[in-house]
Amino acid sequence: MNFRIDNNLTFEDFKEIEEIEKSYFDIDTVVTSSQVYKWHLVNPDTEIVVKSIVNDEVVGQISVIPLSKEQYKNFINGDLKDTEINEDNIITYINHCEYHLLFSCITIKKQYRENKMILYCLLKGLYEKIKYLESKDIKFINMCAEGQTTDGQNFLEKFLSLKLMGKTKDNYSLYYFEKDYNDFDNWFTAFPTYIEKYYNNFSNAY
Ligand SMILES: CC(C)(COP(=O)(O)OP(=O)(O)OC[C@H]1O[C@@H](n2cnc3c(N)ncnc32)[C@H](O)[C@@H]1OP(=O)(O)O)[C@@H](O)C(=O)NCCC(=O)NCCS
Repeated sequence: MNFRIDNNLTFEDFKEIEEIEKSYFDIDTVVTSSQVYKWHLVNPDTEIVVKSIVNDEVVGQISVIPLSKEQYKNFINGDLKDTEINEDNIITYINHCEYHLLFSCITIKKQYRENKMILYCLLKGLYEKIKYLESKDIKFINMCAEGQTTDGQNFLEKFLSLKLMGKTKDNYSLYYFEKDYNDFDNWFTAFPTYIEKYYNNFSNAY
């Protein structure tokens, strides 16, 4: 495999991520590299980054942020955006505690979009991240996300099984699970099967 998950991220990596996001999204919705780097310094479990082992560049990333009950309520009501999360209000994971998860962003660098192995690595990275947190008796109540693009909406519905629940104040699609606890756990139990199905689909197509 030509790709690897990188767990030793530097500010340079976050600058690359910002450029990838700017190639797809409205500039106002992109969280700057300095802000995401601050999240990372406070909470090192917010980013899943896949790099090429050929030239060491970032080829794909996922950002996931823990939210308190109040922050989740504010996100659902449109009173909190990921761009408003900074080093002062980002929370860290504490063992044996419960959180909501904000799926903030997924991107694959444009010139690598045809390579399905990258999404496979990102999905596995997301699975391993949540598994690691759950191994510390951290529990997830629900997951939420904003679908800005058709690709994003497809991804949130098909891979994360999130439900379209309305629109944000900026008129983007708002997603979360209908039922707290059960829906997250059911999705996560089935997630490895989705990942393998995805792998089998694209490897059969080659
Ligand atoms: C979001 C993104 C990473 C997804 O990657 P992708 O290469 O587009 O995804 P793929 O096309 O390989 O996968 C989605 C497809 O896999 C299918 N699929 C295959 N196996 C699957 C499985 N096991 N489970 C669910 N879906 C599966 C889905 O049906 C879907 O097919 P469709 O597009 O024909 O409906 C990519 O589109 C991207 O970087 N987009 C630009 C940035 C962006 O918009 N990000 C979202 C921000 S909200």
